[in-house]
Amino acid sequence: MHRKGTLPTTLDLFADDAPQPPATERIGPRSWVLRSFALPLIDRLLPALDSVLAQAPFRHMVTPGGHTMSAALSSCGSFGWITSPRGYAYSSIDPQTGQPWPAMPEVFFELAQQAADAAGFPGFVPDACLINRYIPGAKMSLHQDKDEQAYEWPVVSVSLGIPAMFLFGGLARNDATQRVPLFHGDVVVWGGEDRLRFHGVMPIKQAEHPQLGEQRINFTFRKAR
Ligand code: SIN
Ligand code: FE2
Repeated sequence: MHRKGTLPTTLDLFADDAPQPPATERIGPRSWVLRSFALPLIDRLLPALDSVLAQAPFRHMVTPGGHTMSAALSSCGSFGWITSPRGYAYSSIDPQTGQPWPAMPEVFFELAQQAADAAGFPGFVPDACLINRYIPGAKMSLHQDKDEQAYEWPVVSVSLGIPAMFLFGGLARNDATQRVPLFHGDVVVWGGEDRLRFHGVMPIKQAEHPQLGEQRINFTFRKAR
């Protein structure tokens, strides 16, 4: 520990609690995993999440094909992602409350913008944040994010809580997938030529997180319109 007024010693610099630069891993030409990137903001993110969920509680949506999604969903920002018998869409109104979605908390916006910037997409102004909650056993099948009108902007995906195995595929459904383990605080960004790559989440394994319990929360920031 270094005390106020004393210079840090070499030992201090290598102490376990010394701040580490965030590690980055490249998983595609314009796709990055930013390890622990959300952690510096976590004390602001969790209360902001609670306040969004108080206004727009999690719900299980039913796909146009009649299948109930295993992840529970909510949204904040100008547009929320919804399912209906007619298909997937972005809506400015939460169909469950009849009200506009909660505003995107400033700290969510900051995180999305900083992550996009770090991954080479400066100036990202997301207008939609989908919030997914996975309990053990929940999964997300391989899909493309293609309900947006603005593919020139990336997808910024934040993981909190218990770990997940993220699947990152190619531009065709049958392309090989990479398995990317994601942990509390990790952020994945994909855009440019990678923007329409298939991705999904394998069934979540039983685990418990000290702050979030037996769940994984994912924020997916996008520019919808
Ligand atoms: C999604 O693709 O909507 C969610 C991905 C994730 O939960 O990591
Ligand atoms: Fe997605």
